Amino acid sequence: MSARESAREIWHFPTQHVGKHVAVYTTVSSTNTVAAEWLVRSSENWDGWAILAEEQTAGRGQYHRTWQAPCGKALLLSIILQPPAELARPSLLTVWVAVAVADAIQKLTEQDAIIKWPNDLLLQGRKVCGILIECHGSAVVAGIGLNLNQQTEDWTNLNLPHAISLYQATHRSITIRQAAEQVIDCLDHYYSVLLKGQTDLLTRQWRRRLGLLGRPVQIELAGGNTVAGTLQTLTFDSVIVATSGGVQSWPPEKILHLHPLEVA
Ligand code: BTN
Repeated sequence: MSARESAREIWHFPTQHVGKHVAVYTTVSSTNTVAAEWLVRSSENWDGWAILAEEQTAGRGQYHRTWQAPCGKALLLSIILQPPAELARPSLLTVWVAVAVADAIQKLTEQDAIIKWPNDLLLQGRKVCGILIECHGSAVVAGIGLNLNQQTEDWTNLNLPHAISLYQATHRSITIRQAAEQVIDCLDHYYSVLLKGQTDLLTRQWRRRLGLLGRPVQIELAGGNTVAGTLQTLTFDSVIVATSGGVQSWPPEKILHLHPLEVA
């Protein structure tokens, strides 16, 4: 059976690049794993294809963590891309997804989600979405887990007290199809922006959604050091912080975590 034949159905959306075709499954191990298998098994052009499942039996998160969602209650989506070399940077693609999903959340809920560095979205201060970018040669798989209809008992059962769903934020349930349409539309919009070289537009939205420019922050660097200072500038080339010892800068890839620093 070919990859696309194994899907329950295929949705088609009128987008430019992302999610023109969405292969919908009831249950898979992980949509990111299915995407990786497609890339290995078939030389078809999967650029822009999306894989969606109602349930994952082995959902994966960052740092080899698991990602769990009760069947039918979350948007579990992976996008396959074959980006041009200048866009094939996990740090940039993570921001692409984060900004696009935050815009989609805004349209669905009229509420502002914020980005928690590097790959989480928070709504009302609790985690509503996680992002997992994985590279396979020149292809990239962008995995998105967006909480839709979970309720308090779901978080209690999963021992995830700091999570929230769109339902909990609005008291309105939302179908997976509605969420997929909105998220894919926003992903497609910002991917077109990136393809046109308008990275500045994404950078502006990144700064707005992170909300930390000009504020005291604590930076945790790859390698274990932490630095405190005021966040002066944020671009995909450098994160610049004024510290008591002078101005320091790092490429975003070197920064594991960037938190607001509470000053007494
Ligand atoms: C994280 O917060 O650590 C990232 C979570 C990413 C979860 C999504 S759900 C769809 C896709 N398939 C996976 O196995 N993981 C991502």
